[in-house]
Amino acid sequence: MIKVLVKNLEAGMRISRPVHKPSGGVILDAGAVINNDDIERLKIYGVEAVYTIRPETTEKPPVSGKLSAVKMKNIAPAQKYVRFKMESFKAHQENIDSVREIFKKLSVSENLDDSLAKDTSRLMVEHIIKNENVMIGLTNLKTFDNYLYAHSVNVAVLSLVIGKAMGLTNQQLETLGVSALLHDIGMLNVSRNILEKPGRLTQSESLEIQKHPTYGYNLILEKTKLGKDVAYSVYQHHERLDGSGYPNGLTGNFINLYAKIVGLADTYEAMSSPRVYREMYMSYSAMRHIIANATRLFDSNVLNAFISAVALYPVGSLVKLLSGEVAIVIKANKRFPVRPIIKILMDEKGEKVDGTVIVDLLKNSDIVIKEPVDPNKFDINVIKEF
Ligand SMILES: [Fe+2]
Repeated sequence: MIKVLVKNLEAGMRISRPVHKPSGGVILDAGAVINNDDIERLKIYGVEAVYTIRPETTEKPPVSGKLSAVKMKNIAPAQKYVRFKMESFKAHQENIDSVREIFKKLSVSENLDDSLAKDTSRLMVEHIIKNENVMIGLTNLKTFDNYLYAHSVNVAVLSLVIGKAMGLTNQQLETLGVSALLHDIGMLNVSRNILEKPGRLTQSESLEIQKHPTYGYNLILEKTKLGKDVAYSVYQHHERLDGSGYPNGLTGNFINLYAKIVGLADTYEAMSSPRVYREMYMSYSAMRHIIANATRLFDSNVLNAFISAVALYPVGSLVKLLSGEVAIVIKANKRFPVRPIIKILMDEKGEKVDGTVIVDLLKNSDIVIKEPVDPNKFDINVIKEF
C-alpha cells in the first residue's frame, strides 16, 4: 500500500482504502480502479492524498472479514413490516394507475379535477413518513410497460424522500409530490412517434421534446387549479444550476426549489431505468455519475439530502461482498451511505442462503462491499427480499 498525492495520481491506479467525504459519503471504494473523472472529483472534494496499491506488484486489496466470523442471527421479518410492504406495493401499483388516469383525463378534457393528484400525493407522503425504505425499494421495480407513469411515480417517491430529508413540512411535501407526479405531463403534447422512437433523435425532434416543460406549465395553469408552485416546478424541472438546462437556461436560485428536487430525482430515475434505446445503468453507476457532475448541475443541499437518504447503495439494490456472497440492501445507514444494512441472499458459491441473515456493515467494518451487481443477472424477486 502506498500513499499518493492526488496531484500525482494517474488513471488506472487502484485504491486500497475507501476515500470518504467529511460528511461520511464515499467518494471511492477500496479496490476501485480510478479514472480521470475520479481524480477530478477527489480534487473537488479537497482530498490531498489517497492510498493505492503499487501497480508493479500483485498486492491485493485487504481481504474482508469472512461472514462466518460475524455473529449472524436468523431474523424473521416482523409481520407488521411484511404487511406494510404489501400494502405499499399495492398502493404503488394504484398510484401508477392514478397517474395514467390523470394523464388520460388531461388529454381529453378541458379541466382536471385536482383531487386525484392531491390524494395520490398525500397518500405517498403518509407512506414515506411511515417507512421510506420500503418506498425506495419499490422504485426498483423497473419496467418497459407504463414507462411514463411508473417513472412519474418513482420520481415522486424519490423527490419526497429528498424533501423529507431536507425537513420540508407535510404541506410542502404534498405540493412537491403533485409536482413530481405531473412533471412530465407536457409530454402529452409531444408526438408519440418522437417519444417512442428507438434510435437517435434528430435535432428538430430533440427541440420538440424540450418543449415539454413549457407545454406542462401551460396545461397546469390552464386546466387545473394546482397553483403556481406546481406550474413552476413542472416548467423548470430540466433547468440546471449552471444554466445548461432548458427551456430558459435559468441559473442557481432562479430555479424553484421543488423543480431542483424533481430535476435531480428525474435524472437519477431515468438513468437507472431500462429504456428502449439503451441498457439501464445500475443505481450505483447512476449515483456515481450524478455525484461526478454534482457541483455544476445540482443544488448542494438537494444533493446532500439525496445522498444521505437514497445512499450509494439504495434499498433494493444488490451487492457482492469481497468474500464472495451476494446480498440485497435493506436499509441505508444515513450518516454513512457506504455501509448499509444488508441481507445475505447467496453464499460465495452462489448457493441460496437459508433463513434470513442480516448484517449491519456499520457494526462489521471488516466486511466490505466489492461491487454492485445487476439484479437482472440473478433469479431474485427483489420486492420479496428487501
Ligand atoms: Fe421531463
